[in-house]
Amino acid sequence: MWRPPERIRWQPDPGEWPDAETATASRLFSPVRVGPVELGSRTWVPAMVPWRATGDGEVTDNVLDWYARFARGQPGAIVVEATGIRDIPSGPLLRIGNDAFLPGLKKLTDTVRRESDGQTKLFIQLIDFLAIRRRPDPATYFERFLEITDRHRDALDARDWPEEKIRHHLATLPDENLDDILDERELESLRQGYRERVTDTDLAHIAELPEILPGLFADAARRAREAGFDGVELHYAHAYTMASFLSALNTRGDGYGGSRENRVRLPLEVYAAVRAAVGDDFVVGTRYLSEDCIEDGNTVEDAAWFGAEFAKAGFDVLSLSRGGKFEDAKQPAVGQAAYPYTGPSGYECMPQYISDEQGPFGRNVEPVARIRAAVRAAGCDTPLVVTGGIHGFEQAEAILRDDKADIIGFARQSLADPDWFRKVRGGHGAAVRVCEYTNYCEALDQKHVPVTCQLWDRENLDEPGIAKTEDGKRRLVAPEWEPTA
Ligand SMILES: Cc1cc2nc3c(=O)[nH]c(=O)nc-3n(C[C@H](O)[C@H](O)[C@H](O)COP(=O)(O)O)c2cc1C
Ligand code: SF4
Repeated sequence: MWRPPERIRWQPDPGEWPDAETATASRLFSPVRVGPVELGSRTWVPAMVPWRATGDGEVTDNVLDWYARFARGQPGAIVVEATGIRDIPSGPLLRIGNDAFLPGLKKLTDTVRRESDGQTKLFIQLIDFLAIRRRPDPATYFERFLEITDRHRDALDARDWPEEKIRHHLATLPDENLDDILDERELESLRQGYRERVTDTDLAHIAELPEILPGLFADAARRAREAGFDGVELHYAHAYTMASFLSALNTRGDGYGGSRENRVRLPLEVYAAVRAAVGDDFVVGTRYLSEDCIEDGNTVEDAAWFGAEFAKAGFDVLSLSRGGKFEDAKQPAVGQAAYPYTGPSGYECMPQYISDEQGPFGRNVEPVARIRAAVRAAGCDTPLVVTGGIHGFEQAEAILRDDKADIIGFARQSLADPDWFRKVRGGHGAAVRVCEYTNYCEALDQKHVPVTCQLWDRENLDEPGIAKTEDGKRRLVAPEWEPTA
């Protein structure tokens, strides 16, 4: 992962822990309304893909155990990992693109309800993404993938060469010569791996996204409701389709790109279709970016404007992330796919302990405060969730007290200690396993292998009945915790 050049090493600093009385009286542990439901506290476990579904995207026992473990910590809400809305193979990513997924998802909602004693609301994040291919071996790229055109023939002064000869010749050229022969997209396909964009409107399936996505999201949301979720979170963040529609880099000429009004059009049409499918008594939220954190991408001003539009349209909750884009991703190794959390924007999304003078804690707070002000100025009281490097009670309480956000997202901190909420509320803050923001978990995510935390995955490996990784070296969920007094 990219890290700021300052290389300043930060230690987590959770501050003072409250006693039970202070915690109970705090804003963090006070209820908050999210559209038709009330969360028991202003605590939120944001979506995190733990790579535990089957290769077909089905819920497994390991998926159930994972969410059961979070549920026992009794946060106000849990958002189930990014779940694919299309009925197409997507590797071991959860899927909701067909009614066949309903029985597994029903088990998941039952499990969380039971294990949280009904204290935790459960949402599911709905995602669409475009095609991305692995970085090819250059020989294969020139042999099979590159489409040879007159542009290449002219650049090589090889009008009358047979195609085979051109392919062979290109494969022998040094890298710097290719810069003058291949166009930007071809160079990207060669060096990063082919990646579709929402602006590829010459491809029929990309041109028609505005026609098909509202229906796909709406059907998925209807299934989520049937499966017993309390709501859906439409994934409009990071490197995926809907975030790309919102992005300032979206120059589509069909009324769905260019100005902010055009860029927000499809996200609002998707919202309208989802709302029509699920009704008003089901939470519909979105996760989107407070800033794209890439050159020429969306700024916080764009995000504030979108926030007001989303709130006016009727979204029940706005959860803000930042960065996580393909545009500045590191070059993957041959045979690997680019990963949107490897560049500076990826750092902003999951900031690590080796940082700059701002440090990894709370980098999203001020942008979210700015967006919240715009939402309030538009006359909407929609709650906003802030996430990013938040691990201490005082830090969370100050954000709420200063009206910078309404709900606090703890992603890696709850991975490190799913009992954070129960411990802190009960006055057992000193027992919290504090996240060190090493991003060991994120590296596992990048490899698409089961995500665990280095603070607990080697603990009590001989405990009877626990689930482990296939090699038996890591436990899959955090050890249980019971208060001693
Ligand atoms: C292993 C892992 C998987 C993640 N998967 C998702 C995801 O599916 N959807 C999403 O919106 N964010 C995802 N994120 C980002 C987190 O929700 C969160 O925004 C980020 O980790 C920063 O918050 P934190 O500092 O509290 O961890 C993931 C993060 C991690 C560490
Ligand atoms: S592995 Fe654990 S301690 Fe390290 S960043 Fe992830 S959750 Fe935090």
